[in-house]
Amino acid sequence: MKTLSPSILAANMLSLGDEIKKIEYSGSNYVHIDVMDGVFVPNISFGMPVISATRKATNLALDVHAMIIDPDKYIDDFIKCGADIITFHFEALDNNRILKAIEKIHTNGKKVGLSIKPKTPANEIYPYLDLIDMVLVMTVEPGFGGQSFMYDMMVKVTDIREYSKKLGRDIDIEVDGGINNETIKVADKAGANIFVLGTAFFKSEITPKVADLLNYES
Ligand code: DX5
Ligand code: ZN
Repeated sequence: MKTLSPSILAANMLSLGDEIKKIEYSGSNYVHIDVMDGVFVPNISFGMPVISATRKATNLALDVHAMIIDPDKYIDDFIKCGADIITFHFEALDNNRILKAIEKIHTNGKKVGLSIKPKTPANEIYPYLDLIDMVLVMTVEPGFGGQSFMYDMMVKVTDIREYSKKLGRDIDIEVDGGINNETIKVADKAGANIFVLGTAFFKSEITPKVADLLNYES
């Protein structure tokens, strides 16, 4: 499945309900929720109350991107608030804690994503590819919306796609940061299938539609 995962980091928080309606209208399957703690990344966004409010507003899958230290401490809370996919950062935990976090999320019937920052090589997450549902390849340094897409991350996307094929896995590969109507094509061709859009979704005059962005002539 290919889909957008519009990031409410760029939404108008005063009318979050209407913003979520735009996501439904666009044909997206996911809502991307960026949780930042001001420690793992140099910015603070929002947390549990916003996840819960979003849960009440939609039946779309909630794609929670935890940019926090100790993400494993908050798995229960994320699930209680209605997260469907919990993505945490490879850089935030040691191997032992990563394995335990994956198991805990799966035991609760939710999907696991593992994310890598731009400086982390793709092969760091190869040992986990058999255990997780999604890899999130950051295409900007995490922390802020509105940054420019890092084209040099595409080789990582292709490498992960090829390696997971070798393992016989049809894993989801999400890209996040600087995705717009041009860079989405580049990421699609590289092998990504879930596309996070913040600025390009919420700050554009016309709400983009999945069909228009992904069914392009190549
Ligand atoms: C950045 C966040 C992104 C952000 C993307 O750290 O993880 O999800 O919302 O925003 P744009 O699409 O504006 O780059
Ligand atoms: Zn994100």
